[in-house]
Amino acid sequence: MSTPLIGVSKSILKIKELINHVANTCLNVLITGETGVGKEVVAQSLYAESNRSTKNFVKINCAALPETLLESELYGYEKGAFTGAHRKRPGKFQTADKGVLFLDEIGDMPLALQSKMLHVLQSGEFSPLGSDYEFKTDVWVIAATNHDLEESIYNKTFREDLFYRLNIIKIDIPPLRKRKEDIAPLIEYYFRLYKSEYPDNHGSKPDSDTLAKLCNYPWPGNVRQLQNCIKKQMVLKSWEKIFDELPREHQENIPHIHTDSQHNGTQPFVNHDFANDRSGIISEFVDLSTSSDKLFEDISLKKIKKLASDRVEKEVISFVLEKVGWNRSRAAKILKISYKTLLYKMNEFKVHPPVK
Ligand SMILES: Nc1ncnc2c1ncn2[C@@H]1O[C@H](COP(=O)(O)OP(=O)(O)OP(=O)(O)O)[C@@H](O)[C@H]1O
Ligand SMILES: [Mg+2]
Repeated sequence: MSTPLIGVSKSILKIKELINHVANTCLNVLITGETGVGKEVVAQSLYAESNRSTKNFVKINCAALPETLLESELYGYEKGAFTGAHRKRPGKFQTADKGVLFLDEIGDMPLALQSKMLHVLQSGEFSPLGSDYEFKTDVWVIAATNHDLEESIYNKTFREDLFYRLNIIKIDIPPLRKRKEDIAPLIEYYFRLYKSEYPDNHGSKPDSDTLAKLCNYPWPGNVRQLQNCIKKQMVLKSWEKIFDELPREHQENIPHIHTDSQHNGTQPFVNHDFANDRSGIISEFVDLSTSSDKLFEDISLKKIKKLASDRVEKEVISFVLEKVGWNRSRAAKILKISYKTLLYKMNEFKVHPPVK
């Protein structure tokens, strides 16, 4: 049985709603999010809710296999197609027929295979290796990645046309640190689950102080990391010990973000009070020591407004980029501008990552 999608945060509720909407449409879905956020759980939920749930759910991990093996796994092969092909073998496209094909880690698919994949998605036909016929295929393709595919397109490691084919419906799962409301229900769910798995060895649920600490931890490994902690607690029987053992080095790298119940989940705290820095700002754009006549000639509200707004934009963009480790796609989301606009502004304000 597949894992239910646990969560009460706004973002998880929205995802559940989206799953219900698209489950029977068979529109290609691209699921994104950091490692351990539940991309596979969402893919399984889509399948379970769809009218394909009586057929196969076939998963292939595009990062785990070398190029030639990945190709033969996807499309199958004829006897004698290559050395070692002693007999004909069906590929995942065939096994998944009328069901779901889950292309996990799609961001790691080699470029050469991306063009073949695009052809299959466009035509609905594929040829096993070594064959001269084409099979018609009816699969619902759900793909997942923790890569920033827009950045991969920019770096020319992912085809833009394939991206648009796969990304008809996008489900972006926020990291656990942005949906802290989900931590308690996840603990509850896994606590019950493991209680039956470890009948002689179960600890306790966290008290309110410990729960508060767990909710404030940034969980860089997301739900998977939390799940492992719950499992460990069943054996060690001490939340304090578990909490003390959690790696801390990530905490400084993660910007302080409101949870999505307080806010919409993406707004960072920017503490600098630009508004109260008045004379400082004016003196940066005009020379206050010159005569009044000259000064008044130089002061143009439009011009100063533009210079000041450029400076603020540059500061905020640099601040966010630094906080997210120069992940441009994430920065664009936080700033609520398009990826292209961000690239344009980085270029305009000469904001570049530090040279290593
Ligand atoms: N919302 C959720 N409810 C219940 N379990 C969850 C949820 N999200 C994740 N999990 C559990 O956390 C673990 C990681 O989830 P999953 O494998 O789906 O993550 P992922 O995003 O595919 O990670 P990766 O990028 O590393 O492959 C799994 O054991 C899964 O059952
Ligand atoms: Mg996964």
